[in-house]
Amino acid sequence: MKIHIKTYGCQMNERDSEALSGMLTQAGHIMVESEESADVLLFNTCSVREQAERKAKGKIGYMKKLKAKNPELVIGALGCMAQRLGDKLLDELPHLDFVLGTGQLHTLVPLIESIKADRRQVAAITESPEVLNSMGSHFRSKSDLTDFKAQIAITRGCNRFCSYCIVPYVRGREISREMNDVLDEARALVADGAKEIMLLGQNVAAYGWGGNINPPPSGISPFAELLEELDRIPGLLRIRFTSPYPTYFNDKLISTIASSRAVCHNIHLPLQSGSDRVLSAMNRQYTANQYRAVVAALKQAMPDVTFSTDVIVGFPGESDEDFRQTRELMNEVGYDNSFIFKYSPRPGAKSAEGEDSVPQEVKEERNAILLADLKRRVSEVLQTQVGSIQEVLVEGTSPRNPERWSGRTGTNRVIHFLPTLGVQPGSLRQVKITRAGSVSLFGELLPE
Ligand code: SAH
Ligand code: SF4
Ligand code: F3S
Repeated sequence: MKIHIKTYGCQMNERDSEALSGMLTQAGHIMVESEESADVLLFNTCSVREQAERKAKGKIGYMKKLKAKNPELVIGALGCMAQRLGDKLLDELPHLDFVLGTGQLHTLVPLIESIKADRRQVAAITESPEVLNSMGSHFRSKSDLTDFKAQIAITRGCNRFCSYCIVPYVRGREISREMNDVLDEARALVADGAKEIMLLGQNVAAYGWGGNINPPPSGISPFAELLEELDRIPGLLRIRFTSPYPTYFNDKLISTIASSRAVCHNIHLPLQSGSDRVLSAMNRQYTANQYRAVVAALKQAMPDVTFSTDVIVGFPGESDEDFRQTRELMNEVGYDNSFIFKYSPRPGAKSAEGEDSVPQEVKEERNAILLADLKRRVSEVLQTQVGSIQEVLVEGTSPRNPERWSGRTGTNRVIHFLPTLGVQPGSLRQVKITRAGSVSLFGELLPE
């Protein structure tokens, strides 16, 4: 059958869709780009904010038209929203054939076949640990120039229960994959051409720590052990990971990253708020000063390290003073990128029991202030790079100007340059920075 899959939400969902595409292809199905030519339409959904659910529901609703033209069409909702709503989604969208939650993704292939054979609506949402090991398959399109980048999910689920967050309810309990499975997967990807691997998990630095929400003591970090093993794989040029929880950066993890060959000096370090009062109401288990200490230790071990973050504006009760503290901390750290979200109450999460007390206009205003701060800071910091020599992993033609190519530094900055004879996507090259734009750099490729 021809199968089309559309993915919403985070990189974990992107990776799940890739693994599902791998399973479907292995079962003899063909993945297609267009919705119109598909026999089966899959929507891998997200629940993290109301907007994400609205988007997926709108899209699935619209697919009714295709089903009217082709009654044989099978439509399925997968992933986080499917998990959260279950049967209710089938009532809401009667042309939907099935709902497959995050704990049952591994049953997709037989489920599609059984629905084809015996048309009836199905909702499968029980949590099952089997999903963990079945999600190692890969479907990699060779036509894609950035095919040298690959992703591995090393944990699933989350045990942290930040008060605003739906993820622990829709992704279930946190479990880590076996280190040997992860290493085998990494080696297979490298043998298949991968040069950069992104390790994924909602709480990725808690890898191998048994789902315990208290981080390991000084000197111990199973996640660092995994990084050390991956660092030994010949031909793997870069290792990245997302998202780590700030309190897991102990001495062991920091020194492992700093002394590694391939782990990138770019850390996504979710802040959420710079106010202790708000952090505590969010059930984030650190204070603003503890967060500052993690940043300072990382900067000390790696003077070139860059940071990105997630911040929520308009959490219930966030005052002007709370917001001022967030802004101050953000400017102090100096992020290269930040994802700023307006608080969205999620039914089922703790904070949604109270009032969504910050007015929408205030959320908008705080969001705009933080984005303006970020824009200013990024263009300033990029200016300081002019004249320096940086190593990039070459990606191929720039999306906006096909005459130019681009690459990324380990610190995750994009550099554009004119290609020279023999330059290959997926290779490491030195570039001299000649000019800074507002979000990226321009430079000249140095001879090999
Ligand atoms: N596990 C990751 C985050 C996954 S969700 C971590 O802890 O960093 C991605 C981001 O969405 C979160 O970091 C948070 O900033 C944001 N987010 C989560 N729930 C939200 C909500 N209810 N409203 C607004 N933003 C939210
Ligand atoms: Fe959500 Fe917190 Fe878990 Fe991240 S750590 S997924 S924000 S509960
Ligand atoms: Fe969304 Fe699920 Fe990811 S809720 S952010 S797709 S884990």
